[in-house]
Amino acid sequence: MSNSPEADNSVLEIWGQHPLAGHVSISGAKNSALVVMAGILLCSQPCRLRNIPNLVDVHRMAAVLTALGVKIKQEDDCWELDPSDISHTRAPYEIVSKLRASFFVIGPLLARMGVARIPLPGGCAIGARPVELHVRGLQAMGANVQIEHGTVHACIPGIRKRLQGANIYLDYPSVGATETLMMAATLAEGDTVIDNAAQEPEVADLANFCRAMGARIRGVGTKTLTISGVPSLHSTDYAIVPDRIEAGTFLIAGAITRSKISVSPIVPEQLGAVIAKLQEAGSQIVVESPNRISLIPGDEIQATDIQTLPYPGFPTDMQAQFMALMTLSNGSSMVTETVFENRLRHVAEFSRMGANVRVNGNCAIIQGVPMLSGAPVMATDLRASAALVLAGLGAQGKTVMSGLQHLDRGYEQLERKLTKLGARITRIDGTTGQVAETSEEITASRRSR
Ligand code: UD1
Repeated sequence: MSNSPEADNSVLEIWGQHPLAGHVSISGAKNSALVVMAGILLCSQPCRLRNIPNLVDVHRMAAVLTALGVKIKQEDDCWELDPSDISHTRAPYEIVSKLRASFFVIGPLLARMGVARIPLPGGCAIGARPVELHVRGLQAMGANVQIEHGTVHACIPGIRKRLQGANIYLDYPSVGATETLMMAATLAEGDTVIDNAAQEPEVADLANFCRAMGARIRGVGTKTLTISGVPSLHSTDYAIVPDRIEAGTFLIAGAITRSKISVSPIVPEQLGAVIAKLQEAGSQIVVESPNRISLIPGDEIQATDIQTLPYPGFPTDMQAQFMALMTLSNGSSMVTETVFENRLRHVAEFSRMGANVRVNGNCAIIQGVPMLSGAPVMATDLRASAALVLAGLGAQGKTVMSGLQHLDRGYEQLERKLTKLGARITRIDGTTGQVAETSEEITASRRSR
């Protein structure tokens, strides 16, 4: 069996139509963990991060930080990161090209060191993903930024080596650009106002982490962030918020298998749009406690339209999973993707399972069918992989999904959590045909060697 999560030839075998029941423990949010780890670079003292999910993407971010000189110790989901001695200001292309979020180190690295050289991450399976909003914002704060030979070279001119506060309007409320610029502004001279900022809970989590280190940020969770720069930040101990996308994915697992399941810990308000659409689709959502909700499925899956939008709109990271649910609905629904230009590639795979979906530009028109049938399918990106698992859980017979390197980027112990709920799902080594280790088990066994 290949031990490399990058060249994974394993497959997931999913036997569908088994009822699920029980509770799922939700891990720390991938997208928060990644950017908070990047934010560590702002501080010159050791910090402790808790509730870090054990994911391939997180280990890639750790590799970028290590290459820059951060010392990291990990014990389960608790990480000690010591960024006191940053020895390099160039991030390695081999890792940045595999983890787009590692580009986000450009803001904190530049603010702390006065210079940062980060390769352009390039496009990915869901779209071109440019970074001009990050670059323009850093320039507005006084940085010299040039792109040469595929690398963004940023430096702060002058002898004081501090960015200058600025008024920045983002043409689009980009999550990454808001995060890059907010981090950079924490150590700038003067006030920075970021208007039309992203309001995603992961942006707020990063802001709260920066505040725990002594940053002065107002307007957290709103469209306008005001950051008053401080000369330095201090050590902190911080816990990452729960993953709302993982929670939403498990709620849909309940809806598609007509099963009652509960999820915690979560922040119910962060799932507002997903909960509203699940209710429209016929499920009942019960808030059992401030951090726990359960889904009670309806008799039928009602056809429901969604349109992806920046938060608090319906998250693009839940679009593919919701479409999986709609393939089994009682009518016709429309899914409109407005955030990324190429995020409907899972449609072709759903069709292999008997779904009736037509794509027109950025819209998918889904005519619900009474039954999906298990088939060999290929994951095309992270959330598409989760959506195919969901379709497999709802389908009759066996689904065999390849492309697991996508799934392992962002779902901690997905098979184990689903098995605990009663799903029949197994990872099989593509070469030997034997039951395979998950990427988390591979990572754990490497660490213990
Ligand atoms: C983050 C999330 C990702 C989520 C996305 C939208 C992380 C690690 N990833 O990605 O899971 O799907 O938010 O919620 O947090 N854009 C530009 N120019 C820029 C920056 C972005 O045109 O400089 C465009 C992108 O191409 C895309 C849209 O803005 O079409 C949204 O991207 P953005 O919000 O930046 O997403 P990410 O931060 O990359």
